[in-house]
Amino acid sequence: MAKKKKRREVSARKLEKGMEAASSGYEKILGRWWVEKANDDAHRRTYRHSVKWTRRKLDRVPASILDYACGAGHLLKRLRKAFPRADLIGYDGAAKLLEKAQKRLDDDPGLELVRKILPDLDDPRSPVDLTVLCLPHLLPFDEGETVHAYADGHRAELRAAREVVDTMREEGLWEADDPVEWQVGNLIFERMVARHLRRLTHAGGHCVRIDYTEAAYHEIDDTYRDYIRFSQGACTSVRGVRVPRFFTQTADTYRESAVISDVSDQTEEYDGDGGYMIRLLKAV
Ligand SMILES: C[S@@+](CC[C@H](N)C(=O)[O-])C[C@H]1O[C@@H](n2cnc3c(N)ncnc32)[C@H](O)[C@@H]1O
Repeated sequence: MAKKKKRREVSARKLEKGMEAASSGYEKILGRWWVEKANDDAHRRTYRHSVKWTRRKLDRVPASILDYACGAGHLLKRLRKAFPRADLIGYDGAAKLLEKAQKRLDDDPGLELVRKILPDLDDPRSPVDLTVLCLPHLLPFDEGETVHAYADGHRAELRAAREVVDTMREEGLWEADDPVEWQVGNLIFERMVARHLRRLTHAGGHCVRIDYTEAAYHEIDDTYRDYIRFSQGACTSVRGVRVPRFFTQTADTYRESAVISDVSDQTEEYDGDGGYMIRLLKAV
């Protein structure tokens, strides 16, 4: 009889250590934790539902799809079932997870997996019809130099990021004990991701974002909604500052799900209910 594998509990402290190791964190303990998580029923249902919902909402069948931070390929596998003829591309920084994705998709000839530290604003890839960012947890890849350089070149986005951070702190939505500059840096990092996603998506093509949330998009308060729209590049101004728009919002949905435990595992202070929201964005 096969020996049952002992489940290894990973503490929040250990996860934090993995996160400190920047994007390479997913090669080690964080990666092991994630592979176990992504295989549970809640995650399986999330991937299945997200792809079904997306297929229903799209006006055209995409010929090319890129999964941004694809991890071990769970969503790619679902995408392949729903879009059998599409070219599939998966980007991720963790070689070990990409190996798992390769196996999961049985060396699919229409699949290209690329090890890449994200975001990459010098990416030469031609745009695709659909980009997807699912349950993101992107870790910064350097000591902040790239984020600083971006902020220097995009002053309006930096001003807007400061406004968003100040409001989030004032309203108690973000921790006031964390350094402001660190929060601003994270927001700029998210803008870089949104800009990269826009470059990877044809004008008129779509980007699907699947995010952890405590409530549906229409239920969250205005400040939090401003944060989402700004960070994902889906507004022309925020808190009185004009910023470039990358996407418009087309549709969204929300589902309660145990996947929210991904967040509570990592931040022991948080143990709320919730699930995920899916948002369909159109590249402008
Ligand atoms: C929470 S997992 C989500 C994986 C996948 N999207 C899913 O839903 O199953 C986060 C993924 O992002 C990748 N990642 C984190 N930071 C990265 C970075 N800066 N560049 C590239 N990949 C990164 C990790 O290797 C990991 O696969």
